Amino acid sequence: MRVGILTGGGDCPGLNAVIRAAVRKGIFHHSDQLLGFLEGWRGVMDDMTMPLDLIAVAGILPRGGTILRTSRTNPAKKKGGLEACIHTIQKHSIEAIISIGGDDTQSVALKLHDRGVPVVAVPKTIDNDLSGTDYCFGFDTAVNIATDAIDRVHTTAEAHNRVIVVEVMGRDSGWIAIYSGIAGGADVILIPERPFNIDDVAETLKRRHARGRYFSIVVIAEGSKIANDEQFSQVSNRDEFGHVRLGGIGNLLARELEKRTGFETRAVVLGHIQRGGSPTAFDRMLATRYGVAAIDAVHDHQWGKMVALKGSDIVPVPLKDAVSRTRLVGQDLIDVALSLHDRAAGHSVVENYTR
Ligand code: F6P
Repeated sequence: MRVGILTGGGDCPGLNAVIRAAVRKGIFHHSDQLLGFLEGWRGVMDDMTMPLDLIAVAGILPRGGTILRTSRTNPAKKKGGLEACIHTIQKHSIEAIISIGGDDTQSVALKLHDRGVPVVAVPKTIDNDLSGTDYCFGFDTAVNIATDAIDRVHTTAEAHNRVIVVEVMGRDSGWIAIYSGIAGGADVILIPERPFNIDDVAETLKRRHARGRYFSIVVIAEGSKIANDEQFSQVSNRDEFGHVRLGGIGNLLARELEKRTGFETRAVVLGHIQRGGSPTAFDRMLATRYGVAAIDAVHDHQWGKMVALKGSDIVPVPLKDAVSRTRLVGQDLIDVALSLHDRAAGHSVVENYTR
């Protein structure tokens, strides 16, 4: 078969591992011809391609980024954009598209599927917020990077009697924050799922310091919301999918905490460091399984499906279920975070808003 592959949205460790697995299985086991579309849906819309043969995918397994490059282009927002995509697909006699991306990229895949394009999707995002799958590849690498950063600022915070606020990515979900916060032993974890009050965070830190701890680590997800936030609302640009460009809440919180507590407070914004570099072994493994499953799903004509991890199995799930809502952090994980805090000595802020 002639199969097109694209990577859309923010880059993420493991994209190359998916491409490599799909290409190798496609060529060795299905005698496929594979074509890469460059820069996500922009490449499909504007007919930008590269051949994906064995040479093209040689040596890319441990490499971050994506050999196909990526963009946040949304053809549905351009006049005639979806029709242009269909035209390119027909021009190259493409019989199936493997769309590797998060909710934005897959929402376009679904629109094209509804217009008759044979599509199979692969869930990618460090945010881990796609429904229908237990894990997106890239998340594990981001969590490991964030945890390592928290470990490192821990020793500096302790040496200087400082509060350090670590801002992590995750958009509207707190997966990276809660995983890295628990794994890194943070004293306060703030996630978008639970709006917080700055005074409560300050009180929590004061109580902790009053019992003899002279430093604290606060992990905050970039999309966290301040309750009754009239004074601190953030003004930001939006991308083509309508998402606000986040970032900066960590600095704001650090400033306000220092004012309210008198403790020297610094902020560290991890930003794109979380998306760069080599994928962990877990992500290489997951990405490889997704790539193999995606090309097999193409040959099983599983159109409009996304390959997903359910327990320890990779299974096809309806794409429309995957993009229908953002998967948020559940109470089970919040309870784990809460279990680690001494109720008598000080509550985590997450707790203040869950009990
Ligand atoms: O969706 C992945 C992500 O890294 C989010 O966590 C973050 O909000 C966003 O992308 C940043 O996007 P950009 O790289 O376009 O600034």
